[in-house]
Amino acid sequence: MSGSGNGGTRPQMGWGAAGPETPAARRRRKLPTFNDLEQRAKWRIARFAHDFVSGGVGDGAPNVAHNRAAMDAVRVVPRYAIDLTGVQIKTKLFGREYSAPVGVAPMGNTGMVWPDADAILAAAAQAAGIPYVSSTVATVGMEKLAQIAPDSLWFQLYGLPGDRHRLSIDMIQRAEAVGAHALVVTLDVPMRQKRVHDVRNGLVLPFKMRPKTIFDIARAPLWAMAMLKKGQPRFRNLEKYAGDNASVGDLAAFAQQNISTGVTWDDIARFREIWPRALVLKGLQHPADAERAVSLGVDGIWVSNHGGRQFDAAPASIDTVPAIAAAVGGRAKILYDGSIRSGLDVLRTLAVGADFCFAGRAFLYAVAAIGEAGGEHQAAAFIEEIRSTFGQAGVTSVDEAQRCVTFHPNALRFDPEGNVAGTEAPRPRR
Ligand SMILES: Cc1cc2nc3c(=O)[nH]c(=O)nc-3n(C[C@H](O)[C@H](O)[C@H](O)COP(=O)(O)O)c2cc1C
Repeated sequence: MSGSGNGGTRPQMGWGAAGPETPAARRRRKLPTFNDLEQRAKWRIARFAHDFVSGGVGDGAPNVAHNRAAMDAVRVVPRYAIDLTGVQIKTKLFGREYSAPVGVAPMGNTGMVWPDADAILAAAAQAAGIPYVSSTVATVGMEKLAQIAPDSLWFQLYGLPGDRHRLSIDMIQRAEAVGAHALVVTLDVPMRQKRVHDVRNGLVLPFKMRPKTIFDIARAPLWAMAMLKKGQPRFRNLEKYAGDNASVGDLAAFAQQNISTGVTWDDIARFREIWPRALVLKGLQHPADAERAVSLGVDGIWVSNHGGRQFDAAPASIDTVPAIAAAVGGRAKILYDGSIRSGLDVLRTLAVGADFCFAGRAFLYAVAAIGEAGGEHQAAAFIEEIRSTFGQAGVTSVDEAQRCVTFHPNALRFDPEGNVAGTEAPRPRR
């Protein structure tokens, strides 16, 4: 796939650059990390919108913190005195070449975070040459996103199990018709969870003007003006099913009543029959589930705990990657998300067994913090950081990154019965 984001030609991230500073270089200097973007997003958008992005399930979002701590615990042993003139971060996935092993994870309701965030991120992914996964509950419809990002678009499905998945199947057919390159079926939302921050904020669509909501909105005038111009976000993919005149509230209610992953292995086998391109299952954490998926002909296993948004007792996503990669043994690609905040996290994840990474909040905070240029900012940051981190670790390709020497003390090891037998699994060697 083509794209201007080839890591081999990207300029430096703002250090040591001569001449007048461009607006993009200034943003890179002022907002060099995930934390900078989150802080700025927090100040710029309504509090309830920030809480919606940052939050997990229970108080203090313990699984979000767990994902981060587990990622930080992964050590990669660098090798030096290596010829780095040919460092290359391009990689192939499902028959397409991407400019870096990172993409935009599916995120629903992003229109509440910044108007047209889906379109901004899709355009940035297309320009950078990386994948963009559109959510079932996107606030820009898949038909429009396909025009914006023909080379990058994937589609993520939440099951709509009513009437033997009639609507799921219609969505799959729409995704095929618009040219989505992969179908990602999310399994880790079998039931809606009580996300306590959203409950406390009374987060519903359309926004209900409670005193707290009005206060939140008044504190974020830029966000409020942008939202006013655009109107309240709508779940565009569902308009076809909820009726032509469905209001914002009708669409939200339709999503609440009809979406449940309620997806069984039989359903996955059916989806496999009708979907002709790459099929990925998202949210797996047990090697036996990954093996079952492979036996049904799935092309990708996406290891994830939904960014810590569903189940506070779940293992950190990174800690199940080695066991799943070993169980899959190269029969399907290993995709990963969970606290990917920098190029270093991408390297760590490849090094413990993944083939490709996705980031959610890193991209969405960038849009919340910067607006229109946020997607491009974050894609460029990842590309530059992956390249420089590869060089620092002494690897010149994704393939070599997957052979790095690592220390991953909390990686889960499973016994043949599928029980956790301990930690620190042997690294899968390729
Ligand atoms: C605001 C938000 C909305 C999300 N919506 C969806 C969704 O609609 N479908 C889905 O499969 N995952 C969804 N996710 C989960 C992401 O795809 C991904 O698993 C997670 O964000 C990865 O963790 P990270 O944010 O730490 O990178 C959402 C995540 C966020 C932050």
